[in-house]
Amino acid sequence: MPDAHRLKRLPIPAIVRRTAAAAALLLPLAGCTDYYPNSTLTPHSEFGRAIDHLWRIELNLGTVVFIVVEALLLYTLIRFRERPGQPSPEPVHGNTTLEILWTGIPIIVLFFIAVPTIRTIFETQRKAPANALEVDVYGHQWWWEFQYPQYHVTTANELYLPLGRPVNFVLRSKDVLHSFWIPELGGKRDLITNHTNYLWFTPDSGMAPNAWNGECAEYCGTSHGVMHFRVFTVAPSDFEQWAAHQAHPSHPDSTTALATDTGGYRFPAAKLPEYVIPATPAPANLSFASGVAGDAARGRKLYSSSACIGCHMVRGNPMSVGIIGPDLTHIASRYTIGAGRYPNDTTHLRLWIKNARLMKPGVIMPTLGANQVDPITHSRVPAAAGLTDQQIADIVAYLQQLR
Ligand code: CUA
Repeated sequence: MPDAHRLKRLPIPAIVRRTAAAAALLLPLAGCTDYYPNSTLTPHSEFGRAIDHLWRIELNLGTVVFIVVEALLLYTLIRFRERPGQPSPEPVHGNTTLEILWTGIPIIVLFFIAVPTIRTIFETQRKAPANALEVDVYGHQWWWEFQYPQYHVTTANELYLPLGRPVNFVLRSKDVLHSFWIPELGGKRDLITNHTNYLWFTPDSGMAPNAWNGECAEYCGTSHGVMHFRVFTVAPSDFEQWAAHQAHPSHPDSTTALATDTGGYRFPAAKLPEYVIPATPAPANLSFASGVAGDAARGRKLYSSSACIGCHMVRGNPMSVGIIGPDLTHIASRYTIGAGRYPNDTTHLRLWIKNARLMKPGVIMPTLGANQVDPITHSRVPAAAGLTDQQIADIVAYLQQLR
């Protein structure tokens, strides 16, 4: 046995002692705030509450088991510790009572865990009610496509959900595995290649309209960590207004465009909670000429004849029918770009078009700015082939008309 007395003499510096004491005192204070955004512990749907209920049962049972086991362990360590002059303990073999006990107790513990677990599995896997709102969710590397087939709406990275109405998510992947998760409402459930998954819940009818963060919860490649989305739970009448507007083509040239349109509904900017506002700084090595004003008409022409239309859809613009990237029909009605990475404002939209791959690692959207270096191919975009800052400003002015 090592010299036990040496342990006592180990000097612990005063700074370490004080820091440890302060940390021990401050730790409980960390629990004093009553609300944390993005926490599964504040559920706002029946699905969230079912999971939360199960988690609390298991936390409480686990705590009881932990205390009993640790108490027995400590008792044994102290009661049967080695004492000076004591002979070595005699090995024993076979104790029927003990063996029955340590088989029987875990069976009982597992029974108390298994019953509520299985009940919750069945509860959260039931078929959605017939009146549910359907949202088809497609996971892409690294953004979310949302389709509302009952409303003929397609959008990206922003979900509007009516309060009090069950919503049935039909989950599919366009490439690799992703996982759909809105911590305070429901999930996680995987989006699996060549397989359709379902998830449904009802945002609580009693709560005030609010905005939430959604995340991808399954590692899916380079930008998995920035595959966010936003969720707006709104009054049913506001949802209907939003959906009617989103279903409408937006292109300013279209004959059907917004003639009788009231602008639709958009979650009020003033009510956005701080936790849904992106705070990632744009790359320091990416800049844009100052004092450039965009021209929407010029931008529309340029957009409609450029590479943009190969990937993006703008319903109402007959040239723009791509389906690889996010649907841009109502891009100006969204609060974020790059799947929640940046705010949807002039500065970030311009930088995004100029060098998207610098703005978000690994994205499919190529670097378009003249003389920009593509971070994936490491090649420089030729001055003649790339977009100038003026051209990008024009395209942004056009996109900002697509409300
Ligand atoms: Cu998609 Cu991680």
